[in-house]
Order: sequence, then structure tokens, then C-alpha cells
Amino acid sequence: MASTAPIGVFDSGLGGISVARQIMKDMPHERVLYFGDSANAPYGTRPPEQVRELSFAIVERFVRQGVKAVVIACNTATSAAVNELRDHYDIPIIGMEPALKVACDRGDRPDGTHVPQRVIVAATPLTLREHKFAALMDRFKADNVISPEPCPGLVEIVEHGRLSDRDLVMRTLHGYFDQYDLHAIDAVVLGCTHFVFYREYFRDLLPSTAAIIDGNEGTVRHLGVVLESLGKLAPEAASGSIELDNSSSEPRIDALAHALLAA
Ligand code: DGL
Repeated sequence: MASTAPIGVFDSGLGGISVARQIMKDMPHERVLYFGDSANAPYGTRPPEQVRELSFAIVERFVRQGVKAVVIACNTATSAAVNELRDHYDIPIIGMEPALKVACDRGDRPDGTHVPQRVIVAATPLTLREHKFAALMDRFKADNVISPEPCPGLVEIVEHGRLSDRDLVMRTLHGYFDQYDLHAIDAVVLGCTHFVFYREYFRDLLPSTAAIIDGNEGTVRHLGVVLESLGKLAPEAASGSIELDNSSSEPRIDALAHALLAA
């Protein structure tokens, strides 16, 4: 595959646009083909076998379009399908997982000691139930206090185009997070790409001492490293572009996708 070939980026719907946006910012010479599966969203409340099947269909379509790499801009689809996709395809498949390491590493001190971090991981029910997350928890739970919090309602608000309905959003956030003593929290990890669009709302919900962490920059950095190691970064003379595609033909989805890309 030529270095000028596009990168396929997909999500269950519109959340992965937060990742596509980051690619365009950090890798401005790349061509991105984005596919949102809004007709089948949310993935996070589906059984993993279904999410795997849907993910394979999307990657198959990308491969036919000649992509040089795929970014699974969805923590949920990564949990359900990344290993199988990597076994099956020989192009790089970049996955995502909640950035728990970044949150916990904030407790590391220069003298080698660690201050236990109190971290909430907001993600979909599927992500938090799968083995991948259990393995991640195992790495950090002995030295930190980690609370996984499934927030499926936050996916629906984005897909329904209601992200600017502040009352609805704040009510929904309070419904999930009022059970915590938020003043005692060191960080909230946004472990779902849809949640990245809520950053300002989380800022209003949380005390200023709590960090809000997502995995988008890290994922894009990793994509860059992988492409560079294969000599597949787009040439600097190339001008980047993005095409937005979606399994839903509803015009409101297309309008929403463009609005989120520009947000
Ligand atoms: N955006 C997705 C994620 O990163 C999944 C949302 C969903 O469809 O439930 O997990």
C-alpha cells in the first residue's frame, strides 16, 4: 500500500469524529476515510459477537477502498474485535483503550514513590465488562482506587444530536456521578470517544483539581509512530483531507457529523 493511501477510521457512530479531528490536526498531510455506524449505534450495549461482526464488515469495506491502516476510533469495538481483526488483516490496526495509565501515572513522584490516584473510568458497559479492561485494571488497581462507571446515556445524547442541550447533559452527568465524592477524585478518564465531546461539561461538573483525560492524542501519536516505522507516512507535499461516511442515510446524521468535525 502506498504512503499516499488513506487511513480508515471508524466508530459505532459519531464519537470517532473526535479522533478523526485529532488526526487532521496532528497529521495534516493524511487522507482520512471516516465511517460511522450510526444505524447500528450504540455498540456499547450489544453483545461482543455482534460488535465483532459489525467491525469486520467495516474493515472489509476499508480494505476494498485500499486503506494503508485502520484506526478503531472506538474503545468498545477495540475491546470486542481488535485481536481478531489483527489476526485477519495484514495492515496496521490501531485500537483504543481507556487512558487509565495516563491517569494513574500522575501519582508517580520524582523520588520513585507513588501517590494513589482516585480515578473514575467513564466508558460503555461493553468496554468495562470485557477482558481487555480487566487486564488494564489488574495493572493499576493495587496502587490506585479505580471506579469504572458505565455511561451509555452519553452516547445516545450525541447520536440524537442533543449535545447542546445543557440541561439534559448536566442532568445525565449528575445521574451518573453524584454518587461520588467528586472533590476526592484525581481524574476522570473519558474511555469512550463520544465522551470527548463532553469535555467542557465535565469541566463544569468536576472541581478544578480533577484532571479530565482522554486517549485521542496518544492514539494519534501511536498511529504516527506505526506509519513512520513502515515508511507509510503521507509525504509532506500532500494535502490532507477527510471524507465522512455513515451507515445511516438520515440527513441529520451527516449534518451532525460535519458539525462535530468543526467543533
Ligand atoms: N464511541 C464508542 C467508544 O469509544 C462506543 C459508543 C457506543 O456505541 O456505545 O467506546
